[in-house]
Amino acid sequence: MNLEELKTRAEACTSCRLASTRTNVVFGVGDPNADLMLVGEAPGRNEDLQGEPFVGAAGRLLNRFLGEIGIEREEVYIANVLKCRPPNNRDPLPDEVESCKPFLREQLRLIDPQVVLTLGNFATRLLLKTDAGIGRLRGKAYRWWREKTLIPTYHPAAALRGGDRIVEAMRFDFALVRQALDGAARSEDPEPAQLELFDR
Ligand code: URA
Repeated sequence: MNLEELKTRAEACTSCRLASTRTNVVFGVGDPNADLMLVGEAPGRNEDLQGEPFVGAAGRLLNRFLGEIGIEREEVYIANVLKCRPPNNRDPLPDEVESCKPFLREQLRLIDPQVVLTLGNFATRLLLKTDAGIGRLRGKAYRWWREKTLIPTYHPAAALRGGDRIVEAMRFDFALVRQALDGAARSEDPEPAQLELFDR
């Protein structure tokens, strides 16, 4: 299956309750051959209305962080753990993550990026298979599935709420992304389970 076919499948998905409240499925956007893939949590109101990830205030901040390391939004691929908006932006529920997971897994396989940047707890915990919090996990590069580099950082919405400390931490993590793309990041030794992509 190619990315377009996967998108068509996602757009018809009714596997969980979010299908009944969404306006649009927010599959993902960007260069299908990107070296860098960003994974957020779930669409918010603007994303649900426009069908594109990170188009609201958090997205503008994200574009700025990317710009600071010399990357245009169009050069990367951006997706979320959930493809449909949870009502009132509540947290994703475990069964929603379970039923949506195959889409993200296939996106990662098809895009096959060299570096993955996870934004916030939901994406980071899912991809690194851990219950640890983002505050402890971020600030490092991890060797991940198929020799890729995974870099966890805060969700940009946390930076909008949390101020300078979070913004500075995210700048540090984006600098790690730059180093990883340039082949210069030193990665932590992962837990063996983290070297495998999450399964069905
Ligand atoms: N927050 C996310 O995690 N993803 C989006 O697409 C928008 C806001």
